Amino acid sequence: MRSSHFNPSLLNAFRLPVAAFVPLWLLTGAASFASAQNARNAAASETREWAQGAIDHAQQMRIHKDSDQGSQPTPPIIKKLDIDDDPGGRIATFQPGVATITANNAFFQDLGTNGRTCDTCHQKQNGWTVSAADVRDRFADSAGTDPIFRLVDGATCPTDNVSTLGAKRRAYKLLLDKGLIRIGLPLPSAPNLEFSVASVDDPYGCTTNPATGLTSPTTGIVSMYRRPLPSTNLGFLTTIMWDGRESNLAQQGIDATLIHAQATAAPTADQQKQIVDFETGIFTAQIFDDEAGSLHARGATGGPIALSLQLAKFFVGVNDPVGLLIST
Ligand code: HEC
Repeated sequence: MRSSHFNPSLLNAFRLPVAAFVPLWLLTGAASFASAQNARNAAASETREWAQGAIDHAQQMRIHKDSDQGSQPTPPIIKKLDIDDDPGGRIATFQPGVATITANNAFFQDLGTNGRTCDTCHQKQNGWTVSAADVRDRFADSAGTDPIFRLVDGATCPTDNVSTLGAKRRAYKLLLDKGLIRIGLPLPSAPNLEFSVASVDDPYGCTTNPATGLTSPTTGIVSMYRRPLPSTNLGFLTTIMWDGRESNLAQQGIDATLIHAQATAAPTADQQKQIVDFETGIFTAQIFDDEAGSLHARGATGGPIALSLQLAKFFVGVNDPVGLLIST
């Protein structure tokens, strides 16, 4: 459930990406709190206002040419029950349907212009996100050419120098150290914007450069650095993305293709269906703990198979006994 990502009351209050500014920005007065009320009542069409600006930004960043092309190693198959070692023991992904041949599914296909697939940032052995340790291994194994290392949003800013291995290591510092991807979102326009940006703490020079960031205190792109969320167990979600800005998974897949993969065209309806069917058809959980042993032995309900059986019984608030008492 999303509660691990975000306080739900904050989430409602900040439908627009304002919340993420807080550590970076000094907002003018209490204007952000005033805008929260309106944002909560905003029509869906208004809350999708961010999308065109974010897509245009990623497309424009194609002027910063990546020196590396090419693809990444992809597993040929995701088995019905697929188990990997992880630092605490073993992690497993279960597909109640059939195994997935990755060559036949758009989630694993290169649909864009920079060699990336969804699997670039959502990998099975990392619980369908990426760990910083794995990203560092990928950097070492590929000398920084793996497609996760692309200027558009792998680097701290698309303008970064990547001409030497040392320069690359600096450019991809946040990805290597913390597993963070740059999310460039436009400021909302009036009447949704009820603040202006007074000050920016911008160690990477991205938001303060008009070519990649703000063009005025009320217009342009703000860069935030965020971990990829796991693209698994999606049936239990109450919102999509850290700030809840995507309304459904098909649209999320389109936007991810146009932004992260810098595709020139959206995935076809068939490709969208393959992506959504795959990501909603997988369940992932720790299955073995190095100290406790099997997490599904002797009636224990750990592991992804037990988790998959929970979905039919799931409802929003299922883990909230106080809420249940009030509502009954
Ligand atoms: C360059 C890395 C990258 C690539 C490539 C990528 N993603 Fe993501 N994904 C992220 C990041 C970062 C987030 C969180 C961003 C945010 O919330 O602002 C995310 C979030 C998501 C989520 C939201 C999960 C949740 O709990 O809300 C889904 C679903 C998802 N991605 C699916 C996909 C699909 C499908 C593709 C391929 C079309 C894809 N991603 C390609 C980095 C990536």
